[in-house]
Amino acid sequence: MLNIILSGAPGSGKGTQSQFIVEKYGLQHLSTGDVLRAEIKTGSELGKEIDAIISKGNLVPDDKMYGVIKNYISSLPKDCKGMIFDGYPRTVAQAESLTQLLKEYKMEAIMIDLLVDEQLLIQRLIERGKISGRADDNLNTIRHRIAVYHNQTEPITEYYLHQGNYFAVNGNHTVEDVFMQIERIISLANKI
Ligand code: AP5
Repeated sequence: MLNIILSGAPGSGKGTQSQFIVEKYGLQHLSTGDVLRAEIKTGSELGKEIDAIISKGNLVPDDKMYGVIKNYISSLPKDCKGMIFDGYPRTVAQAESLTQLLKEYKMEAIMIDLLVDEQLLIQRLIERGKISGRADDNLNTIRHRIAVYHNQTEPITEYYLHQGNYFAVNGNHTVEDVFMQIERIISLANKI
């Protein structure tokens, strides 16, 4: 089974590359951002709380995210070929919980980190913001999301480096080129 943590700053291409991976390898895709936005759409009290956090570009608390991940893993089909975690973990505490949870199922994951220059991230998200309708795709919130990424999410790199399952990808290139780099990593990881 191949489990991939697809990490990277906002706009680094996690969602885009996840689609390619799903198509080629048939993995199950969990985008925590999509799950949270779906909860907002229901208009529930929880959705309102989440909306207030996401629209400011902050992270939803770890304990709430843990519930999402736990439910997801426990509801996977038996013939699941593996998972892509798109946007999870985003804190070291989340990384530790995920390792623990995967261990319970006798599973592991590799981390693929999409590295993209900051100016390019901003350009991509501003461009997407013209059509996405996402409350967090505006310049001020994008800058804040990137700062949150540096402060809270980047430290997970060290965590996975220590575990020996960290792979970096230069995400500044075209979508196709980035996917080729990911394919190489996956074929390497499958041989390990
Ligand atoms: P989430 O939805 O995960 O947003 P994000 O991390 O900010 O990432 P984006 O969706 O903006 O970008 P992406 O990396 O997926 O890039 P994409 O492929 O879309 O999370 C939203 C919020 O939810 C968080 O801020 C937080 O509040 C909350 N949240 C989520 N997970 C959480 C967690 N675990 N804990 C706590 N809170 C959590 O591409 C972006 C654009 O660039 C697109 O227009 C695309 O077409 C374009 N593009 C992509 N790749 C390329 C390329 N190679 N060349 C040119 N253009 C490209």
